[in-house]
Amino acid sequence: MATIIGISGSLRQQSFNSALLNAAVSLAPSGMHIQTRSITEVPLYNYDIEKAQGVPEPVEQLKRAIAAADGLLICTPEYNNSMPGVLKNVIDWLSRPPDDIQRVFGGLPVGIMGASPGRFGTLLSQNAWLPVMRTLGTRLWSGGRLMVTGASKVFDDEGAIVDEGTRERLQKFLDGFAAFIESNHR
Ligand code: FNR
Repeated sequence: MATIIGISGSLRQQSFNSALLNAAVSLAPSGMHIQTRSITEVPLYNYDIEKAQGVPEPVEQLKRAIAAADGLLICTPEYNNSMPGVLKNVIDWLSRPPDDIQRVFGGLPVGIMGASPGRFGTLLSQNAWLPVMRTLGTRLWSGGRLMVTGASKVFDDEGAIVDEGTRERLQKFLDGFAAFIESNHR
């Protein structure tokens, strides 16, 4: 069984990206288990804190989970045509100290998807993650893309997918990511 850590880059209660991630959990193909992790407890990065107290416990826990996992699935919002600061902040903490980067991210299969109420469905945010994932030495899956556009019509008030086309595209995306992980074990 491949364990994938799933992270939504939104803190919002009614987040489309969290809804998309939850849908991925239920549509995960057999042999893939997506374990979602919250980022709400991660503080803002501050080197003074790191120097005095080390990496905060919520970050350590996330680092341990990712280091032990077979892959990482990121569900990213788009802010101002780029990635949101809250999620970048989490990844920045996870990259500390630099000596741990290889253990946490080295060769890690990463899938990136996202949802937005707009017409481009996080296209530019997903692109903005590319140099970050490359810098950390991950193995980014580029065999498929999932940009969920017009998200307010795709999910209902409970966050369930009501758009059949999106459900099918998500399923295809997950199947492709699962096959990639199968042939790219760390
Ligand atoms: C946005 N939003 C947005 N959407 C988009 O498609 N492209 C963009 O560049 C931006 N820029 C942007 C900046 C800021 C500061 C905010 C707060 C929002 C809209 C964004 O996609 C929308 O709020 C989503 O609902 C955010 O994702 P969650 O929270 O629903 O997961």
